[in-house]
Amino acid sequence: MSDVDLSAEKYEKHRQAGEILAEVRDEAAERVEVGASHLEIAEWAEDRIRELGGEPAFPVNISVDEEAAHATPGIDDETTFGEEMINLDIGVSVDGWLADTAVTIDLSGQDELAEASAEALDAALELVEAGVETGEIGRVVEETIEGYGFNPVVNLTGHGLDQYEQHTDPNIPNRAVSQSVVLEAGDVVAIEPFATDGSGKVREGSDEEIFALDRETSVRDRGARQALEQIVEEFKTLPFATRWLDVRRPSMALKRLKRADAIHGYPVLKEEAENYVSQKEHTVIVTEDGCEVTTRSR
Ligand code: CO
Repeated sequence: MSDVDLSAEKYEKHRQAGEILAEVRDEAAERVEVGASHLEIAEWAEDRIRELGGEPAFPVNISVDEEAAHATPGIDDETTFGEEMINLDIGVSVDGWLADTAVTIDLSGQDELAEASAEALDAALELVEAGVETGEIGRVVEETIEGYGFNPVVNLTGHGLDQYEQHTDPNIPNRAVSQSVVLEAGDVVAIEPFATDGSGKVREGSDEEIFALDRETSVRDRGARQALEQIVEEFKTLPFATRWLDVRRPSMALKRLKRADAIHGYPVLKEEAENYVSQKEHTVIVTEDGCEVTTRSR
């Protein structure tokens, strides 16, 4: 038996983050409709998280059609939703303790593809408990999605969550792998199956609106220095968006910080242009005989 105390403060903060996030995700999803603005929904969700007592753990991701992850509106973005497949991926931090969730809102008439990732997540959650191998979880995700006639996206995975660390071990694969780790009671992990009618391997696009700190370093340019100060103080090692920076020419500042190896970007990840990707994600606390889904709708 493990002696993890699941009532410890850090778990309470994970739960609080999950509760805020469930509410914001469900309300944000309802706002997604043809003609609605990406930027308005992202900013609405990020503000709502703060109103409810959390901080966004990363910029609201709004990925459309062939995009799988890492898309977020830029400054003055005027994009609106069409009859598309939309993945909303949102995170909340409470003192660095995180919750991460995603849902597909399908306005493109492809219910089955949206269902495939949702069903795969349900099957994975059924399996989660102390002692289960992550490769087993990957196997049910793969089998469920293939049962719908689609492919899992195999180069995106679920992940552990640690304080101010949005992607830590263990990886939760979206396919059967033999190299595998055993989950333990007290592990906090995000499980996120992606389903696609494409190849199942996403590649990096050219757009980049999300960044994160690598190291503090001295930079000469004033704008870059101010941006770095804000990043270190406000976002720490969590991802942030260009539009979150309070400096005069944020894109220029970011370019300089990248060149100084102070930050790195997260390029948009996508399938081929004619394909579609759906995603569903919950954060769980692993227990001896199952798991507690922190981001479940209340
Ligand atoms: Co995640």
